[in-house]
Amino acid sequence: MGYYSTLGVLLLSLLAYTNAEPVKFADCGSIHGKVAEVDIQPCPSQPCQLHKGESYTVNVTFTSSVASQNCTAVVHGVVEGVPVLFPIPQSDGCKSGIQCPVEPQKSYSYVNQLPVKTGYPPIKLVVEWELKDDFNKDLFCIKFPVQIVN
Ligand SMILES: *[C@@H]1O[C@H](CO)[C@@H](O)[C@H](O)[C@H]1NC(C)=O
Ligand SMILES: *[C@@H]1O[C@H](CO)[C@@H](O)[C@H](O)[C@H]1NC(C)=O
Repeated sequence: MGYYSTLGVLLLSLLAYTNAEPVKFADCGSIHGKVAEVDIQPCPSQPCQLHKGESYTVNVTFTSSVASQNCTAVVHGVVEGVPVLFPIPQSDGCKSGIQCPVEPQKSYSYVNQLPVKTGYPPIKLVVEWELKDDFNKDLFCIKFPVQIVN
């Protein structure tokens, strides 16, 4: 192989790594919006493996169907069917990539960090991520499986 084709293969594999597949998610009641795509970085294979002590970027692209001054994120980890509140450092959606006020029929990318504490047990769980509007209704509610690893 020549120099350029070697470089091409290298670039392609880099692209394949950074442009991982969108995360497969289930909608858990986005009644005031519609989710287009969910991305988690880094997550080279699914279900996403979350390493203790690391932080992951979650990017949810959705369209709102309502107007809302503010929006607030609520995250739960569902372990064997039981939802446990999962604290995130920034719950204000207006400080997570969304330009408030939220307008109807507009597309937004909500981008936030999911820090994985070293104290979490190495288990499989379902992450349930909601973004609530002024009416306490979900602009989006998504859930996806993850595995916490050492
Ligand atoms: C979030 O995802 C959308 C849709 O793929 C993309 O256009 C946008 O650039 C992403 N934002 C960030 C900060 O990664
Ligand atoms: C939105 O947030 C601002 C600033 O925190 C607050 O003053 C206002 O009352 C909120 N509006 C609604 C409708 O919750």
